Amino acid sequence: MKKIAFFIFALSLSIITAQSFPEKSEFTKQWSAPKQTPDHILLNLSGDPSSSISVTWRTSRQITSGFGEIAIAKADAKFVINAKRIEAKTTNLKYSNVVNNYLTSKKTFKNLNHNYHSITFEDLEPNTTYAYRVGDGKFWSEWIQFTTAEKTNMPFSFIYVGDAQNYIYDLWSRLIREGYKKAPEANFIIHVGDLIDDAHNEEEWHEWFAAGGWIHRTLPSLAIPGNHEYRPLFNKDIPLRKKTLSIQWNHQFTLPENGIDALPETSYFIDYQGVRFIALNSNEKIDEQTIWLEETLKNNPHEWAIAFLHHPIFSASTSRDNPKRRQAWKPLFDKYGVDLVLQGHDHSYARGSSSLIEDNLSTGTNTKDAAGTVYVVSVSGPKQYDVKKDWKEYDISLDKSGQDKQLFQVITVDNNKLSYKSYTAVGDLFDSFELIKNSDGINTLINNF
Ligand SMILES: [Fe+2]
Repeated sequence: MKKIAFFIFALSLSIITAQSFPEKSEFTKQWSAPKQTPDHILLNLSGDPSSSISVTWRTSRQITSGFGEIAIAKADAKFVINAKRIEAKTTNLKYSNVVNNYLTSKKTFKNLNHNYHSITFEDLEPNTTYAYRVGDGKFWSEWIQFTTAEKTNMPFSFIYVGDAQNYIYDLWSRLIREGYKKAPEANFIIHVGDLIDDAHNEEEWHEWFAAGGWIHRTLPSLAIPGNHEYRPLFNKDIPLRKKTLSIQWNHQFTLPENGIDALPETSYFIDYQGVRFIALNSNEKIDEQTIWLEETLKNNPHEWAIAFLHHPIFSASTSRDNPKRRQAWKPLFDKYGVDLVLQGHDHSYARGSSSLIEDNLSTGTNTKDAAGTVYVVSVSGPKQYDVKKDWKEYDISLDKSGQDKQLFQVITVDNNKLSYKSYTAVGDLFDSFELIKNSDGINTLINNF
């Protein structure tokens, strides 16, 4: 009897072990420390993408100034002779006496003190491939190429990813690299929050930069913070439940500052070739952003509007709901006909539209007229939760759902057609739909799955 009991115990242990993730990679103490040579180089859209682009990078504190050089790229490498040099804005980030890695036992850098440098290259030509490099005049990055946006509403694609957050170096790396392989023509990438797990942890940010490698400095990005980019900064903040935006955020991103004044670089909009992209910070100041959101939608000169935020308007995972954000922002999405809302947070996949209650959709193609806003929740990291079976509680249809998949999305806007494809980390197509906009601005949704 004892033998049988031990066998059952041993078997259950082996099942638990088989289902658990392996240990996360350890890093040497200096692994994420900045050096004199630029790292964490990141390209951001921050203004008119047909004439400007921003780049930000990190160095050790010994490097107290920086430069960017830029030229129109040519086949003949001597194009670098024509490069224009621009002085960077340098900021210092002191990293002392912060919460010890949010009360985990992992090591952290409690006394880092290093510099960030940023430049916005302006007066660029539209639809032109440039090469740039950054450095201090002695220690430089490689020359990095990117292409500016068109001035007109030409077709374009972008990538959208949900939370990376955990096992970023170990397992998000394959996802982001597969995304770039699948859509090398994409013009930029959107990250909808929870890029890392522990807001102020420099080691995790270093994981994020290492996982994306040169993609981060080649493909411009837009990002917003999730709840995991808000954590107590000092020990005294913990009992007060006071959470602060990642201390790195405003240093290491150069994003638009055209949102509400209190949320620079976390609430903003950008117009890209006929689409208004609206970034909402779903962590704080919901009411203030609601007023700004209405103005931003009312003044949209384009046919298309895409919003992105972290906490979903309609939650994908069981036992989750965000009624305050839904009550504040869904009426405006409806009123101004926002086409698509891209979200994260729930660690599963859900996609539906607000117009029609139609469950049990069969596999294949079906069409919905007057589709209303399409809402998507997606996840790019390995952490997964159970997905809801339907969205009956919200009175809207859940057209496609899934879990236990790392996913990225490639979205193309071509005049009156938006094509959406969701792919798994191994490049398989997981979900697909199209929106066709008629002359009255009403969308027909064509599901393909
Ligand atoms: Fe989250």
